[in-house]
Amino acid sequence: MAKHSKIANNTVNNTKSARVICVASQKGGVGKTATVTNMAVGLVSLGYKTAIIDMDAQGHIALSFGIKKINLKKTIYEVLIGEAKMKDIKHTAFGVDLYLSNNSLSDLGPKVIGQQNSKQFPNPKFLLKNAIGQIKNNYDYILIDTSPSNDMPTINSLLASTDIIIPVLPEGLSIDGIHETINLVKTIQEQGAKVNILGVLPTMVQDHTNLHHVMLQDLRKRFAETPDIKVFETVIKRAIRHGLAQTHGQPDINKAPEYLSFVKEAFAIA
Ligand SMILES: Nc1ncnc2c1ncn2[C@@H]1O[C@H](COP(=O)(O)OP(=O)(O)OP(=O)(O)O)[C@@H](O)[C@H]1O
Ligand SMILES: [Mg+2]
Repeated sequence: MAKHSKIANNTVNNTKSARVICVASQKGGVGKTATVTNMAVGLVSLGYKTAIIDMDAQGHIALSFGIKKINLKKTIYEVLIGEAKMKDIKHTAFGVDLYLSNNSLSDLGPKVIGQQNSKQFPNPKFLLKNAIGQIKNNYDYILIDTSPSNDMPTINSLLASTDIIIPVLPEGLSIDGIHETINLVKTIQEQGAKVNILGVLPTMVQDHTNLHHVMLQDLRKRFAETPDIKVFETVIKRAIRHGLAQTHGQPDINKAPEYLSFVKEAFAIA
């Protein structure tokens, strides 16, 4: 644990409690994993102690940081079902602490829901929140990657978070996907969760195309009418370097400078 790392308001803090940021969208392939990965390396480059929790059974965070899923003995799944502690599963790569997943996470729902499991798991939606309790004083930011669904891992992620970022492609069907995610978050808020939608992040933007240009304008106009939900000024461009960094497992904030601008905007870092 860093003795004197910065926290979100740029003051020095010894007894911090992390902001927990969930990157979520019900639509697949909109850049959730790329956003989590690049935000994390961006925050580390600014001196913030940062962790990622992968709550998607696809396990793409491991790949994005060059770690082979096959080498993972224990994952976030074992922590959630009480068979490991967060410290037992931690990996560190590119300055980011990683709490990784693999296919086993898809067993979470069947394992923890249902009358026969209620004695062992009385609060199945709060397993991740409890697990984060083990590490939240160690970090300034904990970022959660989620799957494009409203499964048990995603519900746990939303309920464990302080803030949610929704990536969106400026294309018709993807824009509709935002509303599904917003409705899911509203349901969670109605259940008493104090989670805030930090904003909508346009990703894979090709602003030289008419379609994206018009859709981006349309997106900003739509959300101008809903002042509680912000569309970030920063947009992430579609660029081959993003895809390559992910497949090579070598995140590099110098090659993804939009994400550095984005974390500064999202967390009001000067
Ligand atoms: N800005 C970008 N420009 C070009 N390609 C990108 C960009 N961001 C992500 N990609 C690529 O697009 C694909 C989808 O991105 P990513 O895996 O981050 O989406 P996702 O929302 O996490 O997907 P899923 O819903 O399957 O988890 C990946 O192959 C990734 O490398
Ligand atoms: Mg993903």
